[in-house]
Amino acid sequence: MRFIKSMKHVGGAKCSSFKKNKPPKCIDQPGCKWVVKQGCKPQSPSPQKPKPKSPSPQKPKPKSPSPPKPKSPSPQKPKPKSPSPPKPKSPSPSKPKPKPKRKSRKKFIVKEIDLSNQYQSPPLSINIGRYTVPALGMGTLPLGVTYAPGGRPKREDAIKLIHYSLDKGVRFFDTADTYGADNKDLHYVEKLLTEAIDSYKGGSLVDEVVVGTKTGMKRINSSVRGWRPKNFKNIEDFKKAVMNSYVALGSKPIKLWSLHHTDGYDVDDPTKFIEVCNAIKDLLDENIIENVGLCNCSTAHLDIAREIIPIVAVQNSFSLYDKTALKKRVRKIASKSNKNEIIDYCRENNIIFTPYGALGGTQSRDGRRNLQNDFGALYEIAEKKGVSPQALILSWMRHKFPFILHIIGTRNIAHLDDYLSSINIHFTHHEISELDKL
Ligand SMILES: NC(=O)c1ccc[n+]([C@@H]2O[C@H](COP(=O)([O-])OP(=O)(O)OC[C@H]3O[C@@H](n4cnc5c(N)ncnc54)[C@H](OP(=O)(O)O)[C@@H]3O)[C@@H](O)[C@H]2O)c1
Repeated sequence: MRFIKSMKHVGGAKCSSFKKNKPPKCIDQPGCKWVVKQGCKPQSPSPQKPKPKSPSPQKPKPKSPSPPKPKSPSPQKPKPKSPSPPKPKSPSPSKPKPKPKRKSRKKFIVKEIDLSNQYQSPPLSINIGRYTVPALGMGTLPLGVTYAPGGRPKREDAIKLIHYSLDKGVRFFDTADTYGADNKDLHYVEKLLTEAIDSYKGGSLVDEVVVGTKTGMKRINSSVRGWRPKNFKNIEDFKKAVMNSYVALGSKPIKLWSLHHTDGYDVDDPTKFIEVCNAIKDLLDENIIENVGLCNCSTAHLDIAREIIPIVAVQNSFSLYDKTALKKRVRKIASKSNKNEIIDYCRENNIIFTPYGALGGTQSRDGRRNLQNDFGALYEIAEKKGVSPQALILSWMRHKFPFILHIIGTRNIAHLDDYLSSINIHFTHHEISELDKL
């Protein structure tokens, strides 16, 4: 009775079922099912066995001073590894049997991924001057106004929401001096943010969080229609208003400050606008503000302002409902109200674009707009892709315009999570072109 340590078919193929931890099988024992089943021939002291002492019968010792006895009938075949006989037809048991056919192996079909078909994903972060923040920020208007359905959240709940968003990696917050109930409640959200950021983990994130605030609007009442561009009587009043935000934000340089309603300034007679831009330059020089943005502006405003101060960010309306920022500029139309081509302008001039109302804004909040009714195709694509329509459209925006810094305004934790998950959505070129059609 003979045991082998490594089983081989006579033809030379290694038995796939052989396991090291199994005791060696007796292959001479009559009726050894394994041997019969595998089509192995009991291995008598056949030419396949180079040396009984050899730990591996397949491999003749290369170090052996005497060349291994070629067990193959063909002495011309010195290949020790190939035990397959040159004469497979020989019926003699002493002669090697034909190499048994290899057991067909299960084929694994690897699905090919055509990377050239993937739309390039946008960067995960955005630079605001010397600060780098994740490209998904938070809009805070709904934490301050009282006209949203359900009223405004309690102060402590709003702070909890800000802390939650910090937990999730949000590092940019968009606000304004007017985000409060009305004109008597100025700086409400600015102060809320300061408190929330200072109290978050002992204020450890104060340096890396960027709050972008705005000056230049007023509230004539507490309703959704109560917003107006503010015309300052003189430039000192304007500077004082910015200083009030500076104090509300902790008396530290404002990392991003924006002129809220730039379109309140005439570009056909730009004297007032130039005066404001010069005042902004003073605020930069005095280190009251660190970076400047323009909101609700036209490309004409940008051209004028950039002659005086660097502009790092633009905040205009942009959503499926309002694609003005993408439209071609009609030169003949009075440039004051012309906010076309803003996105192209930002792209060409390396300016961050923060779209507001990207999900439909206040009108979505109070039910005047309904994405599902208005953009059914968006819901169909989202369903196919297994993501929410809101996350899908926000991700589409960033793929198309990688210089976008989102500032979605939500008071709902599930919506916030969903929004932040949009960072994980990737597209094929085909999917992008489908969304382009919306
Ligand atoms: N510069 C300006 O003139 C100006 C004007 C307006 C706004 N802003 C800024 O832009 C920010 C964004 O605008 P916005 O807050 O008006 O509107 P938005 O970001 O378009 O959000 C609109 C609505 O979307 C809902 N929402 C958010 N994420 C969602 C999700 N994943 N799934 C389903 N619904 C979702 C919100 O409701 P829930 O609360 O129920 O989630 C909200 O009703 C403001 O907060 C403000 O900071 C600037």
